[in-house]
Amino acid sequence: MCGIIGYTGKKEAGAIMLDALELLEYRGYDSAGIALSAEAGGEPKLLKRAGRVKDLRTLCAENDTSGTCGIGHTRWATHGGVCDENAHPHRFGKVTIIHNGIIENYRELTEKYGLEDKLCSQTDSEVVAAVLSRFYEGDPYAAIRKTVLKLKGTFALAILFDDIPGKIFAVRNVSPIVAASTGDGAILSSDVAAIVPFTNQYFVVPEFHVVCLSKDRIELFDLSGDKACIDWLTVDWDVSRSDKGGYPFYMEKEIMEQPQVIGDTIMPRIKEGKPDFSAEGIPDNILSDCKRICVIACGTAMHAGLVGKSLIQAMIGIHVDVVMASEFMYNDPVVDKETLVIAISQSGETIDTLEALKFARKCGSPTISIVNVKGASIARASEYVIYTCAGPEIAVASTKAYTTQLAVLYLLTARMAMARGLWTKEKLTAYMKELMRVPKVIEEVLLRKDEIHHIADTMLNARDVFMIGRGLDYSILLEGSLKLKEVSYIHSEAYASGELKHGTIALITEETPVIAVVTQDKLKSKELSNIKEVQSRGAKVILLIKGEEQIEQEKIWYRIFRLPVMADEFMVMPASVVLQLIAYYVSADKGLDVDKPRNLAKVVTVE
Ligand code: F6R
Repeated sequence: MCGIIGYTGKKEAGAIMLDALELLEYRGYDSAGIALSAEAGGEPKLLKRAGRVKDLRTLCAENDTSGTCGIGHTRWATHGGVCDENAHPHRFGKVTIIHNGIIENYRELTEKYGLEDKLCSQTDSEVVAAVLSRFYEGDPYAAIRKTVLKLKGTFALAILFDDIPGKIFAVRNVSPIVAASTGDGAILSSDVAAIVPFTNQYFVVPEFHVVCLSKDRIELFDLSGDKACIDWLTVDWDVSRSDKGGYPFYMEKEIMEQPQVIGDTIMPRIKEGKPDFSAEGIPDNILSDCKRICVIACGTAMHAGLVGKSLIQAMIGIHVDVVMASEFMYNDPVVDKETLVIAISQSGETIDTLEALKFARKCGSPTISIVNVKGASIARASEYVIYTCAGPEIAVASTKAYTTQLAVLYLLTARMAMARGLWTKEKLTAYMKELMRVPKVIEEVLLRKDEIHHIADTMLNARDVFMIGRGLDYSILLEGSLKLKEVSYIHSEAYASGELKHGTIALITEETPVIAVVTQDKLKSKELSNIKEVQSRGAKVILLIKGEEQIEQEKIWYRIFRLPVMADEFMVMPASVVLQLIAYYVSADKGLDVDKPRNLAKVVTVE
């Protein structure tokens, strides 16, 4: 959470930082600010305010923002409410900082260093500026070292010292920082998204290392002051993928990109018609020897894990647990050498997933992560990594990352079946053919977006929406429901259809739209009976059903959407895209800020 940017070079830093902060706004959008280093040394110019980056832009337009070195921040509030004083950067003595993360011992530090009446904000971050300032006696490295050794918690810090103009220092623990050379200077950020407009070469600042950006070089040191080697990485998406491409919102663009990015994710991993993870170096024995699987993830990524669970249990016959990463550590997790642990994360930075993964490794579990952002912390903390090729996902609500995670899980299931010698050649061929059809089938759904828009229109004034289904249908509805509530603010719940009558059916009235998904042949008759139960209570049922399935009395349905036909286990894909588009259109038609729903942030780096 919180976006971080720093630039020093030949160009105007103010303009560069404002553009970058707009790209980083998905990390948090409560307030924003910049500090511009004074060219001749002395106090930097500080401009910050509560609100969006566009409000900061207005403030900057009213002020002098000249200068070629600066740091900038967009905030997702944790400690201290949303107000100008709590916006970053924070300044104390000769030190100006921006911070992403949480300093858990900020109260002890405040007391220890007698800061109670010296601070201007309620943030944990200002305390770091004060401690740094206390230790700063002209040697930035010594001050940073002494400070970070006192901090408990997570942090990515970018720092300006008044008497070292033109240089930016940064250090981190857990929270990410990447850095790069821009040709005319140097840049650092919390995300590669802000770096891509300048270069495709970057590196991840290692934990507890200090990076120093000057106009003509980048230097990296460990905490004892020894020079460290830089491990350069290449971003494989270009800047055009970070713009809206003519769509009103990133969410729509990202939904539309799914045929392409699913293809990009699966095709390089299919060799001679078979799933292949040799490029990732994943040995087959990892997939064949495990006795159980434990998936750890949060939110949408966890919902992808639930689909994976149904697939693997049905097709491989081994037990799969899907655990919310945020609960993992508090339930006395039982994972061992025989448990394959799969961490799923778009950003690769979700702190709960990262901590759970590190725990699993300590327990000796083999680990595979499915991550979208190259070089992210989860990818690096895991034994093996499979990158989804979704490209930058800017909308806070995840769409294409989810379906590419599913695509990887389909591939892994097939590879696991091969490694265990479970399927016949014919079965594998049929399965892989169906997987390769997914991009085309999703394209068919996207071409029918107007039809889906009409369905979404029926929900615009709803207070509650229920979604019901069984088995795989229930798994995807959990995701469909999350999508609807997060972008449209309509209360929505996904229910296993058989469970409804154990209490929740009391909430169904004539005013309640119910979305029912029926795609699994073996569950169809039971699902249809459950739907009747809500119809009898007056609910307006919107039915998503597979292809030309025969259903009685077409007119009892409020709306019907017939999904393109795939093998049952793949129906998740077209159905998910319909649910994504419903959520999108409801939000857009309600005039909401689709890409930046209230209170949310794209990258969740606090527990
Ligand atoms: C919802 C959404 C979140 C994320 C969750 C995990 O649309 O995007 O639920 O899925 O915060 O994030 P990652 O995948 O980055 O670990």
